[in-house]
Amino acid sequence: MKHKTIIEPFKIKSVEPVYVTTEEQRITYLKTAKNNPFLLKSDQVIIDFLTDSGTSAMSAEQWAGIMRGDESYAGSKSWERMEDAIKHLTGMEFILPTHQGRAAERIIYGHLGGPGKTFISNTHFDTTRANIEFSGAEAIDIAIDESNDPSLIHPFKGNINTDRLEKLINEKGADNIGAVILTVTNNSGGGQPISMQNTREVSAICKKHGVLLLLDCCRVAENAYFIKHREEGFENYTYEQIAQEMFSLTDGAAMSSKKDALVNMGGFLALRDKEIAEACTMLLIITEGFATYGGLSGRDMEALAIGLKEVFDPSYLEYRIKSTAYLGEHLHKMGVPVMMPIGGHAVYIDAKKLYSHIPVDQYPGQALACELYLKAGIRTVEIGSVMFGKYDENGKLIPAPMELVRLAIPRRVYTQSHIEYVIETFDEILKEKESVKGYKITKEPKFLRHFTAHFEQIK
Ligand code: F0G
Repeated sequence: MKHKTIIEPFKIKSVEPVYVTTEEQRITYLKTAKNNPFLLKSDQVIIDFLTDSGTSAMSAEQWAGIMRGDESYAGSKSWERMEDAIKHLTGMEFILPTHQGRAAERIIYGHLGGPGKTFISNTHFDTTRANIEFSGAEAIDIAIDESNDPSLIHPFKGNINTDRLEKLINEKGADNIGAVILTVTNNSGGGQPISMQNTREVSAICKKHGVLLLLDCCRVAENAYFIKHREEGFENYTYEQIAQEMFSLTDGAAMSSKKDALVNMGGFLALRDKEIAEACTMLLIITEGFATYGGLSGRDMEALAIGLKEVFDPSYLEYRIKSTAYLGEHLHKMGVPVMMPIGGHAVYIDAKKLYSHIPVDQYPGQALACELYLKAGIRTVEIGSVMFGKYDENGKLIPAPMELVRLAIPRRVYTQSHIEYVIETFDEILKEKESVKGYKITKEPKFLRHFTAHFEQIK
């Protein structure tokens, strides 16, 4: 018999409480947090969809690995296991451990970047862009045009526009390109996948011009799921083989292992080029730690090595992708404008469409994030003009191309009833949408303002 219900392919051995709050309490909490969900405390949140990063539940095997962790400063056994797992997956010779993704980014983009350099990506994630810009270089996003239309159905909306890539390389000069970066899946662009075909084309362009191609591979297993089920020729590949093929087309990779390695902390850089690897290893030792632990403890490395294998388990990936789609498709049917098709790790809501009465410089996405918290204690994140907006010379907002709110789903953490609770909340959100007001920013830092900015509702 073929069942309709996708069950969670795990049993629960250890639980942690969900703190239930009232709407009245949440009004006070959000006010104290200056209307920025990042500034809420975790026990003020009922369903935490802020991020899928570092929020996974580890398996019994991973916890067993924690006990095996070898905490030697140099040459730890746990490092050997982590290095083997990454080499097996990436096929790359030089592996550098880091405490998380942005540490890998700081090292590699600090080395490759600097004034006059350009980086090109489908979409740079916010920390990727910040590290590149912090080095003095520029970061340009060139996803295919389809990626900017949230309601348009396309199997690989994460793809790069190869015509623009070729033009940009010619215009800037190949020597001035720091690297081309494929973000799989395209987190800031709706969690949408990149096809193998597009990866091959990008790889060929980079090879032709002698430009480095890097993979931002946080969610490479989820991307592999989409390739197997959407792209011709991969039906008989395993998910791991698909990921391996993708790595084989690139010169290096940076991973925040807090996503598809199913751990709470960890990351790495994988490189083929010896000279780059040596320069990066020096930076690693100065800022992260010795080359056999980066910023990680032995137990972290052990859990990472195990998680990187578990994530390719077909029943896990099927549950993962289909349960995300379950939430997204329900919202879509109710008339909530969601980014289609549903991505791998999150459901993205088009707040510009939902709150069409709120102008972009009053941050409709922030308004929805606040509403979801107030109504149901659901914490989400705005991925729009709060995160990516810039100002022109006159201090006028240059808005982001989309005003999205991300409901990112932690791996192996929530059950179907949690998801039903979230779906129910949207009945209320839809009913009251006309009365919701926009926000203004009252305080913001120069980089990555969404983390710490303060907001005030516009009266
Ligand atoms: N690249 C991508 C595509 C990411 O999604 C993230 C993190 C990073 C790099 C940086 O990794 O957090 O380990 O330093 N994304 C998290 C998120 C924070 O919520 O999407 P990190």
